[in-house]
Amino acid sequence: MSENQPLCALVFLTSLFCSACSQGTRFVHSAALDADGRYSIKWGFDESTITFEVEVETRGYIGFGLSPTGAMSSSDIVIGGVLSGSPYLQDYYTDSNRKVHKDALQSYQLLYGRENDTHTVLAFSRNLQTCDDNDQIITGSTVRVIWAFHEEDVGMSGPVYHGTNRGRKSLRLLNPGTSSSIPAGTAFFDLQNEEVPVPHKDTTYWCQIFKFPELKKKHHIIRIEPMIQKGHENLVHHILLYQCDSDLNESEINRGHECYHPNMPDSFFTCETVLFAWAIGGEGFTYPPHVGMSIGTSIDPVYVQMEIHFDNPSIQRGTVCHDTLTHCTK
Ligand SMILES: *[C@@H]1O[C@H](CO)[C@@H](O)[C@H](O)[C@H]1NC(C)=O
Ligand SMILES: *[C@@H]1O[C@H](CO)[C@@H](O)[C@H](O)[C@H]1NC(C)=O
Repeated sequence: MSENQPLCALVFLTSLFCSACSQGTRFVHSAALDADGRYSIKWGFDESTITFEVEVETRGYIGFGLSPTGAMSSSDIVIGGVLSGSPYLQDYYTDSNRKVHKDALQSYQLLYGRENDTHTVLAFSRNLQTCDDNDQIITGSTVRVIWAFHEEDVGMSGPVYHGTNRGRKSLRLLNPGTSSSIPAGTAFFDLQNEEVPVPHKDTTYWCQIFKFPELKKKHHIIRIEPMIQKGHENLVHHILLYQCDSDLNESEINRGHECYHPNMPDSFFTCETVLFAWAIGGEGFTYPPHVGMSIGTSIDPVYVQMEIHFDNPSIQRGTVCHDTLTHCTK
């Protein structure tokens, strides 16, 4: 790795461009909103507008909204779907009693919609600031996104009760950083678990200590991304990275252990300062311009512990997974 170049940890190369690039929109961000991967969104934005593509495992209607608190009340909502081959989308809002009203000012523009035997896809855009009191202003802060879907369509006549398929998620929609904003040629390194046995149970915490690359001078980490094996997105619930003591026993690193197990070597108890946190549905993190995590000097982190929370409730009882990071063969 050449001098003067920032380091970028855990680079995960993903497809950064939408497949149906209607109007040239680039959906550089994406997130799964539910834990089962049935409701996912992609989005992109510029100074004044934001464009979403929502993909849901239903042939009925889709609800998508922005809420000041994450609750259903006083929210900015769109409801849409594909009915008899025609996509529809309408702007609604809820009052403080969670009653849904059609918004007199329709601020969301339907771009396209399609459905097949299992999924519905809708794309729509709006201004970040719509100048409509019934819409949420989209800023650089964390936004509470609420979602719902139903097996039946409603068409333009309005929503029906959305049953149990609903939830919420906090997202930074206007997160400026994506891996596409990292200069080409930026050095990177990976921290990767291998052959983790993930038993059939809701919660397994897996801990492994890694050593950062040895560097001759100061560098900065400018972006950190999760690197999750394809198909196992729902198995990895969250990832934490802790800084450990710089003088720990090196023979105890690079071997994974179930965290908090009585046999866990002593070195693991020195890893206490959280450097990075990621949770399911989240994206990578880019430090703001002119900011980075210093590595390579005598006071910087040398050893880090990666703690992964695996959630494996749906695989056949007794199945044990052996593979890179999270792979599980039935
Ligand atoms: C239906 O659409 C979804 C979402 O675009 C896609 O992932 C899936 O592969 C499609 N199914 C078929 C059978 O084409
Ligand atoms: C380092 O760890 C190994 C394996 O746990 C242990 O056998 C050894 O005694 C430790 N060394 C020191 C100096 O604590």
